Amino acid sequence: MADQVPKVAVVTGGGSGIGLATCERLRSEGFRLGVFDLDPAGASEAAGDGLGLGVDVAVAGEVSEAFAAVEEALGPVEVLINNAGITGSLEATRLHETPIDEWDRVMGVNVRGAYLCSRAALSSMVPRRSGHIITVASVAGMDPFPGRSAYSVSKAAALLLARSIALDYAGDGIRSNAVCPGMAETPMTKWRLDQPDLRAAIEAGIPIGRVAQPEEIAEAISLLASGRLSYMTGHGLVVDGGWSLR
Ligand SMILES: NC(=O)c1ccc[n+]([C@@H]2O[C@H](COP(=O)([O-])OP(=O)(O)OC[C@H]3O[C@@H](n4cnc5c(N)ncnc54)[C@H](O)[C@@H]3O)[C@@H](O)[C@H]2O)c1
Repeated sequence: MADQVPKVAVVTGGGSGIGLATCERLRSEGFRLGVFDLDPAGASEAAGDGLGLGVDVAVAGEVSEAFAAVEEALGPVEVLINNAGITGSLEATRLHETPIDEWDRVMGVNVRGAYLCSRAALSSMVPRRSGHIITVASVAGMDPFPGRSAYSVSKAAALLLARSIALDYAGDGIRSNAVCPGMAETPMTKWRLDQPDLRAAIEAGIPIGRVAQPEEIAEAISLLASGRLSYMTGHGLVVDGGWSLR
């Protein structure tokens, strides 16, 4: 993209883990970034010469203001990466023991957040007849994780959101895909992976024999964002070291 106007991408949850690795990767490929995160300093750092903002993706007003600010500062958003996500409490709980607030918050960030950001991005993508929305779901949205019903249900919804957008906007020149990571080593999972016994048990269940580094998930996101897979839409790209084969 050296001689072209840089494309603008928005990355949500870009202050940490997979989102941060994605920001670094997309910047190295010449994208200019709008980064939304609860942590404004992390968002700013990840955005580099773009625009990092403190945004809660579950709050409609914050999302629409943030999109307007990015489009004014950087230009039209060509790629949206719906990456912000939470798992819920550290303790896994079955459904009847999962607090209602926790259920609502997980759905609020992982589903409503992706919906609100997609909605805002589509409003400007449709008139331009161009854009790509990439949603970070999870293999938990294909087969549930034990004691994680809120998270698993939210990721199944995120995957279907990506596929619904693909169907409804294909005729507008807009594509939508998902990436479904297995277990990646990030602040979200660190507390488990830092316990040697737990890490060994997790890695024993992964055919490749190890968890992913966030850069390996960012690689899949950046391949989609590059536009090289131009005929792909409505797809959930599984990047899990073979976990879901078992
Ligand atoms: N790490 C894994 O093993 C794994 C596996 C599958 C899917 N995922 C998904 O990948 C995405 C990134 O996960 P991660 O492991 O990098 O997590 P992480 O906790 O390291 O980073 C998540 C980022 O999202 C931000 N965030 C959380 N709630 C937000 C909100 N309401 N508004 C804006 N920003 C918010 C956090 O501040 C943080 O910077 C999530 O959607 C997660 O569900 C992760």
